[in-house]
Amino acid sequence: MDGPILILGGTGGIGQALARRLAAQDRPVHLAARDPDRLAALGGEIGARWTACDVLDEAALARAVEDAARGGTLAGLAYAVGSIDLAPLRRITGPQLAHAFALNVTGAALAVRNAQAALAAGTGSVVLFSSVAAGLGFRNQAVTGTVKAAVEGLTRALAAELAPKVRVNCVAPTLTRTPLAASLIASAQTAEAVARQHPLARLGEADDVAAVAAVLLGPEAGFVTGQVVGVDGGRGALAA
Ligand SMILES: NC(=O)c1ccc[n+]([C@@H]2O[C@H](COP(=O)([O-])OP(=O)(O)OC[C@H]3O[C@@H](n4cnc5c(N)ncnc54)[C@H](OP(=O)(O)O)[C@@H]3O)[C@@H](O)[C@H]2O)c1
Repeated sequence: MDGPILILGGTGGIGQALARRLAAQDRPVHLAARDPDRLAALGGEIGARWTACDVLDEAALARAVEDAARGGTLAGLAYAVGSIDLAPLRRITGPQLAHAFALNVTGAALAVRNAQAALAAGTGSVVLFSSVAAGLGFRNQAVTGTVKAAVEGLTRALAAELAPKVRVNCVAPTLTRTPLAASLIASAQTAEAVARQHPLARLGEADDVAAVAAVLLGPEAGFVTGQVVGVDGGRGALAA
């Protein structure tokens, strides 16, 4: 039997929406993030096992993957950990860039590396999270644009390397109402102005992103790998 879908960042805005959606479809989920109280609360609510870990701690990340794959297989892995760093180039520091790379890229690569055998033993599928800022240039997004472009490169490289057993895809959201984006859209006026920059004239909701991730993780997307799917109200591909 297939094991669970491991959601790293499973208590966050998008990770939690994905966990709830999968649980509602009777697809077993294993949650991982740092805060054990939030993990226990959500795990209890949706009937998911969980492991507390910091993805920046390589040994803890390996233990979390091992814990999730206790039965030897994983049906999937979603890496819903990441950052949005807004700063002009003149204010960017090396450590800030290194931290963003570690959180968004290294953590994802090591999570998949640790899960590779269990994913290949099941009907494994991986979903990583990029950003609309990887494919489109925005002011003040040098850090995010750089690390999320790396996530997209990682997606394609891993999709090639892990085929045909494991599929690897990426979802690229626009600004989405989650705790991560809360400070950026705290003012209703700003939120409205950003919403207007989208052909579909609104901001993203966590479940918009989770819905696409859930499909990519499942058998309906069984012939899809190496893709970056924009969930961005058209912002990444259309003139507003
Ligand atoms: N929201 C947006 O507007 C937006 C736009 C573009 C791309 N994205 C991308 O979408 C993905 C999900 O974002 P989100 O908005 O759902 O973020 P979020 O609400 O901030 O959730 C982040 C999740 O990751 C966990 N986490 C954070 N740091 C961690 C660490 N060092 N080790 C382990 N877990 C950690 C958090 O829980 P703990 O704090 O308990 O660890 C939480 O469960 C990210 O890759 C983000 O860059 C989001």
